[in-house]
Amino acid sequence: MERLQKVIANSGYTSRRKAEELISKGLVKVNGEIIYELGIKVSPNDMIEIDGYILKNENKVYYLLNKPRGIITSTSDDKGRKTVVDLINTNVRIYPVGRLDYDTTGALLLTNDGELANLIMHPKSQIDKVYVAKIKGLIGKNQILKLQNGVLVDGIKTNKAKARILNYDKKSDTSIVELTIHEGRNHQVKKMFNAIGYDVLKLKRERIAFLDVKNMKSGDYRLLNPKEVKKLYNETKNKTC
Ligand code: URA
Repeated sequence: MERLQKVIANSGYTSRRKAEELISKGLVKVNGEIIYELGIKVSPNDMIEIDGYILKNENKVYYLLNKPRGIITSTSDDKGRKTVVDLINTNVRIYPVGRLDYDTTGALLLTNDGELANLIMHPKSQIDKVYVAKIKGLIGKNQILKLQNGVLVDGIKTNKAKARILNYDKKSDTSIVELTIHEGRNHQVKKMFNAIGYDVLKLKRERIAFLDVKNMKSGDYRLLNPKEVKKLYNETKNKTC
């Protein structure tokens, strides 16, 4: 038995906070009865209905996508643009774990498992998000140190990070830098480089935890196997407990 708001959040329908709001507004029914109380516990056999939508007790699925450039990381788009969810052939209601910008490529997880999604996104879980950025200008060791120690992004210092120079190209005046972070603030990588005076020309997320997209073509995706899912849970839980 689990709390109603947790079951709703874990289904991926919405966040726990929003689920609580829906319950308080009288929009959630359990076995046909409107529930206003936040603490009630439900079992997998209970039928949960949210504003007319019946929450299905679906099996959890986990996809790793090599996101192409020019696709939005969302479940739908009011301008009718293609989303990352449209790239995956499934009838299950999945959603992206975190966000990659329209022009960012690389590793993106999509799932209907809200619990794992939240754990991965939480900085406390210390899940590696490894980015490779092509930046304008030749970066120096001092700037790399600044990235490692944290820089101000929207007035808040970023956590410690790993950063290393992979390559320079004096001719085009560009550098390639690998940056590993555990946070997932909006446009964080681009803003971190901006904070030390560089513009990001290209950005790819190479890896999330142990999951990389090295052997996947742009737009390719695959299901995670149960061992990988267990390993992901273990990586998050070791840090948060
Ligand atoms: N940081 C960014 O700036 N953009 C992304 O897409 C991901 C991380």
